[in-house]
Amino acid sequence: MTRGKFIVLEGGEGSGKTTFGERLKLEFPEIVYTQDPGGTPLGEKIRDLLMADETAGIDARVELLLFLAGRAQLVTEIIKPALESGKNVISNRFGLSSIAYQVYGRERPELLSLYSSVSAEILQGCVPDACILLDVTPETGAARVHARPETPTRFDKESLDFHARVREGLKKHVGEFGKPFIIDSEKPLEEVWTEVRNIVQSILQ
Ligand code: TMP
Repeated sequence: MTRGKFIVLEGGEGSGKTTFGERLKLEFPEIVYTQDPGGTPLGEKIRDLLMADETAGIDARVELLLFLAGRAQLVTEIIKPALESGKNVISNRFGLSSIAYQVYGRERPELLSLYSSVSAEILQGCVPDACILLDVTPETGAARVHARPETPTRFDKESLDFHARVREGLKKHVGEFGKPFIIDSEKPLEEVWTEVRNIVQSILQ
């Protein structure tokens, strides 16, 4: 059985991951879609905990470990079995977000080694084949988030400086998550969508 392909969609707040994820589901219905944090019953509980205002101010190490715990369950329960049975998987976020948000956003460079050592234990060989990074400025991202009906999460509410650091981390480390594709997501939606769809198509061929 040939292993399936593993593609990750990454980007800051308001970069279009969810919009394009929904479109990809319609265009490629045979792919297994998931989200990180989340994607499993335990992962969704961890996600709720991490997004809630009551979690504000937790130790950055604990925050990172919670994201890693959710990811460990996601790999074991969903990603690994799907890839091993030959199915292709697309995840809305994955490990690059931990580096960008917990290491760069939180300005905790020493957490990179914790990230790397725990990831080596939990990924079970499930490293992405490609990472599509939807790049937007923090200003554009914030404007898009504020235009949404959903209540902002505690990450949405972080400062523009925080999101600028996240963007720096995403761009610096995208090459560590399979073949990198950086898309300028400031461009008109249909143009970005065409790029995303063509990239996914080319990876699956
Ligand atoms: P989203 O999936 O709706 O974009 O929200 C998830 C939020 O969690 C987003 O603000 C980024 C953040 N996050 C981290 O801080 N670390 C991580 O490892 C992951 C996967 C997400």
